[in-house]
Amino acid sequence: MKYIEYIDNSLHINGINLSSLSDVTTPALLFFPTRLSDNVRVLREASPDRFLSIHYAFKANYHPLVSKILLSAGCGVEVMTGEELTLALSLGFSPKNIIFNGVGRTDAVLRHAVSTEINAIVVDNPCELSRLSKVCEQSGMQARVFFRFYPFFSSALRLPVFIPDGYKLGIQSFSELNAMLDLVKKSPLLKVTGLSFHVAVRARTSSLFIEALKSLISPNLLTQFPDADTLSVGGGFDSRFFLERSGNGVESFFAPLIDSVRSHPRFRRLVVEPGRFLINDCFTGLSTAITSKEAAGETWHILDIGTNVLIPRPNAHFEVFPLIRKSSKLHTASFADGICSKNSVIARRLLLPHLEPGDRVAILNCGAYTINMASTFGYAIPPVLVMENNTESMNTKISI
Ligand SMILES: Cc1ncc(COP(=O)(O)O)c(C=O)c1O
Repeated sequence: MKYIEYIDNSLHINGINLSSLSDVTTPALLFFPTRLSDNVRVLREASPDRFLSIHYAFKANYHPLVSKILLSAGCGVEVMTGEELTLALSLGFSPKNIIFNGVGRTDAVLRHAVSTEINAIVVDNPCELSRLSKVCEQSGMQARVFFRFYPFFSSALRLPVFIPDGYKLGIQSFSELNAMLDLVKKSPLLKVTGLSFHVAVRARTSSLFIEALKSLISPNLLTQFPDADTLSVGGGFDSRFFLERSGNGVESFFAPLIDSVRSHPRFRRLVVEPGRFLINDCFTGLSTAITSKEAAGETWHILDIGTNVLIPRPNAHFEVFPLIRKSSKLHTASFADGICSKNSVIARRLLLPHLEPGDRVAILNCGAYTINMASTFGYAIPPVLVMENNTESMNTKISI
């Protein structure tokens, strides 16, 4: 089954004919659960021996069905706050499958993480590590810790300007690192089991990750971490739809990265924390074009779905497809919502068949950092409709 295709000029996504959903009120978000299971499958196939450990970046989307599918597929989760930790535990993720990133957790939150014996608490500063050490002493319990580095740690030290202005994450200096190592030497309850970094991009090739790995992992550095057998490269992989469309399939993205980590005899496990890759293309916005107008030399279609959900963050990339392809002639089209703000843009300068007010469109890649980050500014948050396609009967069952 193709992920997206026109059959007789009707748009099909994940095997479902979207033009058959005429009784569904717009705007709505359509969730395709089978795509999520399939995204896990293709990622797993990149490393069948389970060297790769998948920890879904929970922040991307908290929909309970997303968690249910990932749990039944045996995935772990990556959380970043005490609230996310509590939610992940309540949804059924086992503590041993939880990795906790964060940069300023309260003592109470650290206590919760230590007492539930989660897989790893990721720390990037001596101040928090020292508080974690005290929490461990008070409870007499050990904490498994990952040290999180700025991705280009050693090159960044040679070229300090390389670290983007205002970027607070990851260990960025030897003085911080040494202070953290001193704390570990003094506290037998802190066990550093892994190293981690997160390249905050929307990558379509793994070369940046391999460069970051080379920059970070030196024999000198590794000798400081005798118990660290895990490397986490975070998330930052583009959605599967875009990876495949750019010609870099999932296999050719992940295989070089996995090989490169595996070539370090030290590492027995590679952790990935994908948010966007797993969930982005599992949600499609369903929207109606309300008005067209010419402005700034472009043709704008104003949609009934708001950018309070499709937030125009620098890493967001939405693409619009008409539900019915009315002609083969293509026109340049830009899309926005009706909010009186110049930022409320959904997509610009796409080449599409003719569209007019009243036409319905699908917006791809609405799964990551959309409903979770949505505000109530301007528009209501649309309902999520779960699309189950029964391939035998060709029936589409919709539930909320
Ligand atoms: C530490 C960490 N891991 C994973 C992710 C998920 O990133 P993405 O959704 O781009 O895969 C993030 C996102 O900011 C992150 O900070």
